[in-house]
Amino acid sequence: MQKLNARHALALVGALVGALAVTSAGAQTAPAARPAVGARTGQQAWSAVCANCHMPRRPGARPTGPRLENKNLTEARMREIIRSGDGTMRPIPATRLTDGEINLLIPYLRTFRAVR
Ligand code: HEC
Repeated sequence: MQKLNARHALALVGALVGALAVTSAGAQTAPAARPAVGARTGQQAWSAVCANCHMPRRPGARPTGPRLENKNLTEARMREIIRSGDGTMRPIPATRLTDGEINLLIPYLRTFRAVR
């Protein structure tokens, strides 16, 4: 019993060290190479990616893009803008926002009629 507990404790320490290593490696990654955001809802995808530049904006974010409420874009046009960019908005690659995350994002964009 004693031995088992010690082994569990060691395993726990190992897991913590591993988690720390992953965290610090992430911190060193340049902003341009940020990984996909891992959003599980459209709102999370919005907050993690779009709200950096668009209203409704995350507090403290740089104001760069136009408000998207009532733009009434088609879903196809929205997907095109996200993946290909628009004017000064640069394309958002799948490494940043996966196709699955865009699928979650579209219904969220409908809630404020950015997409019709
Ligand atoms: C780094 C800042 C930035 C991010 C992040 C960003 N955008 Fe943009 N976006 C802009 C800017 C700036 C424009 C205006 C471009 C222009 O008109 O030259 C724009 C324009 C747009 C337009 C066109 C608006 C119009 O008036 O027709 C849409 C739609 C849009 N963005 C959607 C999104 C969505 C959805 C996301 C998240 C997946 C996103 N953007 C992320 C900066 C950003």
